[in-house]
Amino acid sequence: MALVTKAVKGTQDILPGESFKIQYIEATALDIAKAYGFREIRTPVFEHTELFSRGVGDTTDVVQKEMYTFDDKGGRSITLRPEGTAGAIRAFLEHGLFNEPLPQKLCYLTSCYRYEKPQAGRLREFHQFGVECVGTASPAADAEVISLAKDLFDFLGVNGLKLEINSIGCPECRKKYYEALRAYFSDYKSELCETCLGRLERNPMRILDCKSPVCGKISAGAPKITDYLCDDCRDHFEKVQAYLDAIDIEYTVNPRIVRGLDYYTRTVFEFVSTEIGAQGTVCGGGRYDGLCEELGGAKTPALGFAMGIERLMLLMEKQKTEYPAEQKCNLYIASTGDGALKKAMQITTQLRRDGMSVQFDVAGRSVKAQMKYANKLGAEFTMVLGDDEISSGTAKLKNMQTGKETQVTLDTFVDDFMNIAIEQSMAALQESFEIDESIDISSIIGNKF
Ligand code: HAM
Repeated sequence: MALVTKAVKGTQDILPGESFKIQYIEATALDIAKAYGFREIRTPVFEHTELFSRGVGDTTDVVQKEMYTFDDKGGRSITLRPEGTAGAIRAFLEHGLFNEPLPQKLCYLTSCYRYEKPQAGRLREFHQFGVECVGTASPAADAEVISLAKDLFDFLGVNGLKLEINSIGCPECRKKYYEALRAYFSDYKSELCETCLGRLERNPMRILDCKSPVCGKISAGAPKITDYLCDDCRDHFEKVQAYLDAIDIEYTVNPRIVRGLDYYTRTVFEFVSTEIGAQGTVCGGGRYDGLCEELGGAKTPALGFAMGIERLMLLMEKQKTEYPAEQKCNLYIASTGDGALKKAMQITTQLRRDGMSVQFDVAGRSVKAQMKYANKLGAEFTMVLGDDEISSGTAKLKNMQTGKETQVTLDTFVDDFMNIAIEQSMAALQESFEIDESIDISSIIGNKF
């Protein structure tokens, strides 16, 4: 097979055997977000480039090195979104969502694009689940947003993620901090990378986030932002910690977290894993109280996070986290002859409307080949319809697991099959419950009494 081309470097296909996993994660994320009052927002995959150069910041790696930017046929500079926050806030401002009750709680599942060097957990097209809570300066909102991310990890059964938090202050406390950083990094001018030299004057805090090992080593000794926080920022950070304590969320304060995007103010946080290699940050977020203003709106405090779905799935793979089983084919109706095929279609149509997963032959194969296909699908039940079954109005329903055959009447089959399928899943549930009970019951009783 000589393919014309393969998938572009840094992109990934999600094949049918895997898609149920991502669907489960996405559905769970939306459910939990809903419980917290977040509603989905969908924004375009591409935006005017200036949204990101202004919003994300033109001294960041994302804007300087990683954006997929091109001129469209109308000569506009367009960029594929490298992240979800800027687009969500643009939409919030453009559609006057600030006139709705605040805070507006927004969430999204999006693809993002960054021209980074691909490696495990780092792609050029990746997916994020993100939330943005817009219109509140309260530290209680910081704790709530962090709690949402934690609940999702807990619900999915992911463990071992460490929550690290920091405060990177406001423009006011950063003035003094920038001076201290400039004084510190000036001594290392000959060693800093080209990009960081350019950052020294404009945004020295960005140097702390540089991926070059040399700059990283120099940054390790740099002054810490937490020593330069103004009273308000310090108070805010203390309250965030008190609220996290109140809801039993464990964290460590890591004064080295600055995050890779320029819009952050005050609280920043990351959920980090040591199990998936160098790209261990599964979720990152924080406050961005100045972004709305930066994008031309009124001053509106806000915060949020985004988690990388691929990194999350990598971690779940590593931890062998279980996913709920994919819905199986409940019934396969094999048929021979046109009359039987039509009957199979009619029964299938009705059962599908009742939520059953049912298939019939759409490939014109022999009954033997159809049964082989049903087997490969893992069909729970099969039924063969031919001229005899159509004329007698009866057929044999076979339970593929036990091999047991039951005589069924075609006229009442739809209702009968629903009952049979319910009985079967009750029996399976009972069986698994009994197995669990025999293993755990004594220890459970022991613990309780
Ligand atoms: P970020 O830290 O740039 O923040 O990205 C968030 C998450 O996206 C990362 O923790 C990681 O899991 C995933 N991610 C980032 N880049 C890649 C990549 N190249 N390949 C695979 N996964 C990746 C943001 O994007 C902010 N918008 C988060 C936020 C929302 N802050 C406030 N609200």
